Amino acid sequence: MFIAHRGYSHIAPENTITAFQEAIKHGATGIELDVHLTKDNKLVIIHDEALQRTTNGEGLVSEYELTELQQLDAGSWFHPKYKDETLPTLGEVIEALPKDVLINVEIKNIPSFYKGIEKAVVETIERYGRFEQTIVSSFDHSCLYNVKQLNESIKIGVLVNQKMHNIRHYVQGFEPYDVYAIHPHHRLISAKDISEFKEIGLKTFVYTVNDEHEANEWLRSGVDGIISDCIMKKT
Ligand code: G3P
Ligand code: MG
Repeated sequence: MFIAHRGYSHIAPENTITAFQEAIKHGATGIELDVHLTKDNKLVIIHDEALQRTTNGEGLVSEYELTELQQLDAGSWFHPKYKDETLPTLGEVIEALPKDVLINVEIKNIPSFYKGIEKAVVETIERYGRFEQTIVSSFDHSCLYNVKQLNESIKIGVLVNQKMHNIRHYVQGFEPYDVYAIHPHHRLISAKDISEFKEIGLKTFVYTVNDEHEANEWLRSGVDGIISDCIMKKT
């Protein structure tokens, strides 16, 4: 399967409702998004902890309440025609997408540390009963453990940007909870690693692969999903 990284971020401003809807329109079966916590402890979808790159705001997400952040223009930086795009909440994204779309919620907890972000994510997933088609991932693995403690039925994906030497031992660290998937950077793994992940029951979602040929090679090697800025075809 193909998961649109920050939505169809190659053609639309990342992490906006339009980017997510464009992804589905063009054939993605899943989307990935990044979630942060506002000053009033609400979830907001944006990649960076700072506002500057993808909005007309300044400073950090954590310095503003959600209603203030919702006034920002989150699209003009990409192209003037997207001037009406705003920063969505997780609930708004869930409501805007068909129920069968996989949503990969990446919790950003570094370099801003958001006390309670796991609880906010879990409560949103529970509110919509969206357990089957959601995976929560993070580079902060303690966050994932906390998600499991709050609700064991939520699927977690361990995001990694370094070589893992003993993945079996690593995922045992989450016991008594199950790890659903590993999300490695594509330059860090080989086909042999994928077989090992499979052996211990882990799904594999590689990021961020923007070359269609490479993506298809990964799928042939047994990868379960490709996280990409582009929408690609299975060959
Ligand atoms: O989930 C894969 C990818 O999104 C992780 O990196 O920085 O694009 O959020 P980043
Ligand atoms: Mg991400």
